[in-house]
Amino acid sequence: MKIFLDTANIAQIKEANDMGLLDGVTTNPTLVSQEKEDPEILYSTICKMVKGSVSVETTSNNTEEIIRQGHEIRKYGRNATVKVACTREGLKAVKMLEDSGIPCNVTLVFSPTQAFLAAKAGATIISPFIGRLDDISYNGMDLIRTIVSMLKPYDYLKKTQVLVASIRHPVHVVEAAQAGAQISTMPPKVFDMLFKHPLTDIGLERFLKDWESVKARMAQKVISP
Ligand code: G3P
Repeated sequence: MKIFLDTANIAQIKEANDMGLLDGVTTNPTLVSQEKEDPEILYSTICKMVKGSVSVETTSNNTEEIIRQGHEIRKYGRNATVKVACTREGLKAVKMLEDSGIPCNVTLVFSPTQAFLAAKAGATIISPFIGRLDDISYNGMDLIRTIVSMLKPYDYLKKTQVLVASIRHPVHVVEAAQAGAQISTMPPKVFDMLFKHPLTDIGLERFLKDWESVKARMAQKVISP
């Protein structure tokens, strides 16, 4: 499963990217509103920095305007993916953009039928939001399982990747992989949590301390053979 970072923060993207573990980035207008830089600078910097797909969101619900913005977004780089909200107007734009070779990420997906229509429109990525469903007492991961099982038998998953969005914690990442989603996008905070285990920290501390005692013993031997 690919790991994407869900942020527009350059420093956080750089840190994950430098580790060599980052497969892509997703942004949205809310995330951009939390940064100080001009959106155009942010988008072009991220597209240059990251090798994989970078989702840049359109800000209209008018088909012609979404298509116009889609072409603008592609100027940020060959890896720029046009993010479009899952509406009637949005899916019409996605069909046209994809037909002209521009990859789209259909966002704000909350139901299996929306995902199915996005796949039929030829979307490169579909983004079901699981945390926001959990927030209103629906099981977001059930939606992922339904979408994957619905799209698989018809070969939609060869063209369309299911990207699990609105991830809140590491268990979401594990379950997304188990469900067969191809991508998980997560806030940097959740990415950091993937590394953490208290027993690793305790174990490493002990190993380092014991190695110091080995070194002290060897040094002693050199002084008094
Ligand atoms: O980028 C879309 C999605 O991941 C947003 O997540 O936490 O605002 O529901 P959240």
